[in-house]
Amino acid sequence: MRVLFIGGTGNISSAVSRLAIANGIELYHLNRGQRKVEIAGAKLIRADIHDPVAAANALEGMQWDCVVNWIAFKVGDVEADLNLFRGKTLQYIFISSASVYQKPPTHPIITESTPLCNPYWEYSRNKIACEERLMRAYREEAFPITIVRPSLTYDTVIPLAIGGWSDYTIVDRMKRGLPIVVHGDGSSLWTTTHSDDFAKGFVGLLGNQQATGHAFHITSDELLTWNQHYEAVAAAVGVKPNIVHIPSDAIADICDKLGQSWMRGGLLGDKTWSCIFDNTKIKAFVPGFKATISFAEGMRRTIGWYHADPARCKVTPEKDDLVAKILKAWQER
Ligand SMILES: NC(=O)c1ccc[n+]([C@@H]2O[C@H](COP(=O)([O-])OP(=O)(O)OC[C@H]3O[C@@H](n4cnc5c(N)ncnc54)[C@H](OP(=O)(O)O)[C@@H]3O)[C@@H](O)[C@H]2O)c1
Repeated sequence: MRVLFIGGTGNISSAVSRLAIANGIELYHLNRGQRKVEIAGAKLIRADIHDPVAAANALEGMQWDCVVNWIAFKVGDVEADLNLFRGKTLQYIFISSASVYQKPPTHPIITESTPLCNPYWEYSRNKIACEERLMRAYREEAFPITIVRPSLTYDTVIPLAIGGWSDYTIVDRMKRGLPIVVHGDGSSLWTTTHSDDFAKGFVGLLGNQQATGHAFHITSDELLTWNQHYEAVAAAVGVKPNIVHIPSDAIADICDKLGQSWMRGGLLGDKTWSCIFDNTKIKAFVPGFKATISFAEGMRRTIGWYHADPARCKVTPEKDDLVAKILKAWQER
């Protein structure tokens, strides 16, 4: 199979790329070549996907068994892809997000038929709009779409709700024994998936004829509370977290006043709610799919990746400062 990834060297797509190549797929990446991530065997087409003329020139005359866009966020992005790939691919996979599912949930078990509605988070509404545009293209012109909705998925990032993501800030804070913020009372249930596990489900969808027109989420079956998530990260560096619980809506209000209103979407539009993913569908379409990496094991790997190169252990003062300011505002309320 000849497959194109737009992106391909990211937090999720690197693991998927490695597994695809290991499975004998001829894999091309279209990206700007800025990330220093080596994927042995991937063929690079260097272009900026936001420059439609450059992208069209770089892809001139090429046909694909599957195209995956890892970095489409707005309707304009998928509209540009329709123009680029109509008649040129047997499958087009759009990377959506599990945050598209109904918030607040009327039922905690999430299947692919859970309604798509997120009044709290613009990012999710844009992903819904992309899905709807592509579904229309499937219905009206048989454009061969498949939709994949990752939930929180990690490899080289720290997947925590407040203070986490692509640097070492929250881990450094834990190591210094400083208080950290956990939303609510930390008891809501959440699923976090290692990219290597996600890859096993995802690669089974590449070139999978049955998947045309279908949407999937691909997650671990391990359910943990948010307290357990923070505890597992702290344990991976051999410390105990100093947790301060603050209600999600209070954090969102504080962050609005601090000019950080994105926090509202990420909490009330996503991580505040217990989400229990039913993975029956991906298991039916990709027999044998099973996530096997526990969060504790995955975090040991991720922390090991950071520690393997001190340059990766970056602390972002503004991020650390935001956690400190949320705590201060909560104490002074
Ligand atoms: N991680 C999660 O928890 C989660 C949850 C839900 C949904 N998602 C979805 O997953 C996707 C992100 O996947 P990921 O984490 O693997 O990606 P990522 O870490 O965001 O990686 C970005 C990739 O895109 C390339 N890129 C960035 N800007 C580009 C441009 N203008 N032109 C061409 N290439 C460009 C980068 O390479 P260069 O910089 O070298 O160009 C890199 O290969 C998003 O659609 C996100 O909404 C993620």
